[in-house]
Amino acid sequence: MNALFIRIAATLLYFYSSEKRKKFRRRHSSFGQLNRKLLRAGIIGEHTYLVPGCTVADSRSRIGKFCSIAKNVSIGTTMHPLQALTTHPVSYTGEADDLRIPPENRIEFQNKTPVHIGNDVWIGLNVVIMDGITIGDGAVIGSGAVVTRDIPPYAVAVGIPARVIRYRFDPETIERLLKTRWWDRTPEVIARLPQGDVAASLRILEEIDAAGQPRRNA
Ligand SMILES: CC(C)(COP(=O)(O)OP(=O)(O)OC[C@H]1O[C@@H](n2cnc3c(N)ncnc32)[C@H](O)[C@@H]1OP(=O)(O)O)[C@@H](O)C(=O)NCCC(=O)NCCS
Repeated sequence: MNALFIRIAATLLYFYSSEKRKKFRRRHSSFGQLNRKLLRAGIIGEHTYLVPGCTVADSRSRIGKFCSIAKNVSIGTTMHPLQALTTHPVSYTGEADDLRIPPENRIEFQNKTPVHIGNDVWIGLNVVIMDGITIGDGAVIGSGAVVTRDIPPYAVAVGIPARVIRYRFDPETIERLLKTRWWDRTPEVIARLPQGDVAASLRILEEIDAAGQPRRNA
């Protein structure tokens, strides 16, 4: 009886050790489920996360690796037709409740266009990204922004409509970051890069490239 009790207690303790609990939570939280689904669908890259409450309007949209996407971000918005008699989707679907519009009176309309978001992009709370927008690698979008134009790599953009207020790094560093693409490297190489020293990280990556070592997923 005592031995059984000890075994049960040991199993429970093992399961509830902080690492196991973290893994269990990650697997079963809506956060984990949403991101695994998006990764499987090929919409997001490795290590990218969207906080629940975000929407991706068009399944053809693509988001790179290592992106952090905060709560209530709308990625693509879907459009309604402005030139038809009505902006209601019935103008192109032809069907709404008991109403049937014959094909000859409907319009041709694409209500979605994919959004493309690069790697290492941080998008703050409550951002709206309009259809068809491209956001470059390394960009930051401030909370509450409405992105109506493409955002260049490593730009920090805020406001409505979103405007670039600065860049994360100088032009030469940005060019080298875009060339070396640290996000495509193996976990071992990424772990070797000093996070607080971009210049040193770039030197390591460039030495690896000069030695002709292959990049993963390059
Ligand atoms: C975009 C952001 C990273 C900029 O940070 P920063 O570079 O430190 O910018 P600063 O605080 O120095 O502000 C620079 C200017 O931009 C303005 N600004 C900053 N963030 C802004 C925002 N989200 N919307 C509008 N204007 C903003 C500031 O008022 C300031 O304007 P000024 O020069 O006229 O005074 C940050 O403000 C932000 O929005 N972070 C997102 C936070 C978030 O949503 N977190 C969610 C959890 S992941």
